[in-house]
Amino acid sequence: MNTSIFRFLSLTLLSLVVVGVSCTGDAPPNPCTGVQIDIVYATTPAIGASNNGSITVFNPAGDSVSYKLNNGAFQSTALFNNLAPGNYVLTVRNNRGCLDTAQISIVNYGPKYAQVKQIVAGYCGPCHLNAGNSGNKNFDTDASIVSGWDRIQVRCVNGTPTFMPQGGQLTTLDKQRISDWVMAGHRISD
Ligand code: HEC
Repeated sequence: MNTSIFRFLSLTLLSLVVVGVSCTGDAPPNPCTGVQIDIVYATTPAIGASNNGSITVFNPAGDSVSYKLNNGAFQSTALFNNLAPGNYVLTVRNNRGCLDTAQISIVNYGPKYAQVKQIVAGYCGPCHLNAGNSGNKNFDTDASIVSGWDRIQVRCVNGTPTFMPQGGQLTTLDKQRISDWVMAGHRISD
């Protein structure tokens, strides 16, 4: 068979297919095509053996927006609490009915570490949090607190050469909390 005939046949077939589609009527454009929802959320860890982690969604927000976790039902509240540690799929539905998802982890903190994390969050900014990197120490991540455990103890509990937070001192109770965490093994799980 001559190749040009072959090409003619396949072009004919192709146009038939295209015509066939347009004859069925155009579907309305999908309002969600190309829509990407900027999902903004915060989590709190589950502490110890209590399943008390949480997820709060800040965006999207509004009357007609709804949220669900894993295969649960959609809800209008942007808060999920009493969560066990683990991985979750958050689905959001915006005011046009468009869906998007985010993969979210709830971490597990040991009770002693949770207290140290709270002390750092309460007393070590702005010098060591966010953009703060005084003395070449930034404590934004759990890993940086865990690896800095000895310096945190020396500076906050022993006060050598001077006490941290700079210009003051933690309470006796908070110093004890740091010592307890260090004695327990200075891990996230302690
Ligand atoms: C107002 C600012 C400020 C605050 C608040 C502050 N620091 Fe510091 N920190 C500094 C400065 C400045 C240095 C560097 C000078 C020095 O080492 O004294 C430093 C250094 C450090 C170092 C590294 C030096 C070393 O000895 O290893 C550690 C660790 C540290 N701080 C821990 C903490 C902890 C933990 C907190 C909170 C409980 C805290 N700091 C709060 C200002 C601050």
